[in-house]
This record gives sequence, C-alpha cells and structure tokens, in this order.
Amino acid sequence: MKSHHLDWTYAFSARLKGISVAASAFTGRVEELGRRLEDELKQGLLPYLNMPFRTELEEMLPAVLNAVAGYKHMLLLGIGGSALGARALQKAFFPAQDRPGHQGPWLWIADNIDADTLDAWMTSLDPRETVVVVISKSGGTIETMAQYFLVRRWLRKHLGQAWKEHVVLVTDAEKGELRAEARQETLASLPVPDNLGGRYSVLSAVGLLPAAFMGIDWKGLLDGAASVAAPLLNPLNEGSGMASALARHPSWHMAVWARELMEHGYDELIFFSYIPLWNYFGAWFSQLWAESLGKDGKGSMPVPAVGVTDQHSVNQMFLDGPRNKGCLFLTCDGLYKGQAFGADAPPKWNWLSDKYFGDLLQAEGLGTRMALTQNQAPLVHVAMREAGANAAGKLMGLCMSATILTGWLMDINPIDQPAVEGGKRLANARLGAPGLDDEQKALTSFLAAEGSAKALQSF
Ligand code: PA5
Repeated sequence: MKSHHLDWTYAFSARLKGISVAASAFTGRVEELGRRLEDELKQGLLPYLNMPFRTELEEMLPAVLNAVAGYKHMLLLGIGGSALGARALQKAFFPAQDRPGHQGPWLWIADNIDADTLDAWMTSLDPRETVVVVISKSGGTIETMAQYFLVRRWLRKHLGQAWKEHVVLVTDAEKGELRAEARQETLASLPVPDNLGGRYSVLSAVGLLPAAFMGIDWKGLLDGAASVAAPLLNPLNEGSGMASALARHPSWHMAVWARELMEHGYDELIFFSYIPLWNYFGAWFSQLWAESLGKDGKGSMPVPAVGVTDQHSVNQMFLDGPRNKGCLFLTCDGLYKGQAFGADAPPKWNWLSDKYFGDLLQAEGLGTRMALTQNQAPLVHVAMREAGANAAGKLMGLCMSATILTGWLMDINPIDQPAVEGGKRLANARLGAPGLDDEQKALTSFLAAEGSAKALQSF
C-alpha cells in the first residue's frame, strides 16, 4: 500500500512564494529545537511522543473494559481535551450510533452545561445499564465536577450502594479531587499520565477508554501515533542526529510552514476534511491548535470545515474573502465509494452512469482544493491512503507534534492555557466561591456599567 503523505506542491504559494522549508529563516532553529526536543523527551515532558505510559495502559485498560463491557450506555462527563478526542473517535469509527436500527452500545458525551440534555439522559437512561465515566486531568474542572455531583446523586438514588460499580474516574494518578474521590469511595479509576495535558491526551485512557467501549481498535490508534513519533525517538539521534531527524520530520515541516504563514499575515488556518466520517477531527484539531497557540497576541485561528457540506456554506469566504487563510486539506482516496449510479440516471445526468457516489466526493475535493490554491490560500494536502484507526493515530500524532513545534517556533508555551483561567475565576466568584475577592469587586463594577438606558436597545 502507498503511504499517507503530505503534498507540499501548493504550500509555499501566494505571499509564501519563494520560501521553502529548507530556505525558511525558522529552519535556522532546528539545531536549538532539536536539543530542546532531546532534553524534554529525557525529562518526560513530551509523553504524547514517546508514550512512557503505554505499558501500564495496556495492562489497566483491558481490566476496566472488562468491568464495563456489560453496560449498554457509557455517559462520559468531561470537557475540552477530556471530551473532544473521544467524540472525534466516536464519529469516525462508531458511526453506527447515528444510524437507524442501532442496538447499542451507546456513548453519550456530556461536555457542556446543558441542563435539558443532562436531565434527558437522567430521565431516559436506565442507571442499571449505564456506566458513568468522569474524565478530568485536574480533577477540579467545575463543569465536569458539577455534572458529576448531579449524576452521582442520580446513581445513588436508583442503585443505592451499587452506584460505585457504575463509575470510572479518569484523572491524575495522585492529585486532585477526583483522585481523592476514587480513594475515598473505592471507585474504579485510570490515570491520566503526567505531563499529558487535556488536548494532548486523546491517546491515553482519556480517549481510549470510550474508544475501546465502542469496540474501536485502540491499539491501532496507539501504533499509528507511535510510528509517526519513531523517527524522533531513535537513540542514534542523540546529539546533532536529532536536528537532522527533526529537519526531515513532517511535523517540523508543518511547523515551519505554519510559522511562515503567521509571519506573512495568514491568521487563519482552515482544517478542511474531505473524509466525511472524520469531520469531528476538525473540532479536536481546533482546540489543540487554538488553546496551544493563542498566546501573547500571536497565533492563527483554526477554522474547521467539512467537505463537501461547507462548499455550500463558508467556502465562499474561504475563496473570496480576506486572503488571510492557509489550509490543511485532508483527503483519503481509499474510502468506500458506495453505489454506482448506473444506467437509470436521467439523460441530462448520464455522464454519471459509470461513476460511483464516492467519486463525487473525490471530484469535489479536487475542485475545492484547486480553487483554494487558485484563490491564494497556501495549502498542504494531507493525503491519507486509508482511514482506519492506525491512520487516525498517525494524523493525531502528527498534528500534536506540529502544534508543539509551532509553539516553540513562536516562543510561546504550547502546553498551558493561562488566558482562559480568568473567565473561570469570574464565574466561580459569581457563584460565591471563596477566596476570589478581587474577582467579586471586578464583577460588581462590570455589572454596574452594563445595562444603562443609553446602552440598551430592544428588538
Ligand atoms: O486542553 C486542555 O488542557 C483543556 O482544554 C482541558 O482539557 C479542559 O480544561 C478540561 O480540563 P480537565 O481535564 O482538567 O478537566
């Protein structure tokens, strides 16, 4: 089988014309960042790459899986990186749940404060047939904890002491309130590995427990990501070998390209998926990219788009709006093509008669890809040869590496997300959480300023 590949033909176009990875000023940093990569790997700071947690995961996950296999429903409570990876995998590899006639199992992902839906789940799901999986690396995220308190009460009410058999906690191995809860209530649990922040954790228990529950090939996902990381993990890379391994690595090329885009005023990055079942990878990628790289007034806004649906929606803006967009364009030529049109197409359409439904997807993907390049969007074509679990693991591993390296080239920290903490503190202050006096005062003056007769407009 031919390999998956990145096609760079139209990547350095429009305002990037004349640049290449080799000629980019950012490539001058490959020695320095190669050394950083080596150091951080040794310190265990990049577990999404070398997966030191894999052996333990492969021991622990089957046991938990065994315990939950008899349940019809998994209700996942989590948000951000604790939910988006699971949803992308669910939509990609468990489409049965969205199709007529599905008989279970079912995965329900609660990643919002949506009282209607949470109540609907607690009204309609049979608690005896439901396992609740609470996922939080910090073990203290208010949205997740609040859902847990309500769902725990629901389980207790219906199941008494047996509620404990219906809960699995996925959280830090040592710290946080969920870990304390697991100890106190002797609940089943799986660890989120050290240094594996939410948006980099899809290939740990965070994404793989729900994936395994749906029967997804979770080891294939891990193998795929491991194969992308392998060239950077070879012990022969020590010393300057790492710089040359990095210089050849596709994630480095993506990072240099993304950094050049930002340098040249491309402040949006489209993630256009022409693999219909992988459409939710766009939401996963967007969080990864935005939360990692939106720092210090820098970054590029990820824009997830769905081929072909968005050809009839936002594509007009992509093509003829501001020329501020680069594009990662995802296709797969090995997809199931569905039915042939055959001879019963009306005469006006008879040129379709020897084509398959899936040929339309490929043709429209080609048309859109070409139109984007003609309209000055520098574009990297991410061409997958098949769309199984191994391929998805490769893509996810590649995207995570590219994100980290882009952050390093921007001289920001791609692992934290300090700006979003402020809003969370204000929300907690609003609800009366202690120790937030400054936030209380700020809220009071913010609210006092709002709502003056001058500012209000009825409609
Ligand atoms: O990527 C991240 O780090 C965040 O989006 C987190 O996943 C999100 O805030 C939830 O955090 P936690 O898993 O600690 O509940």
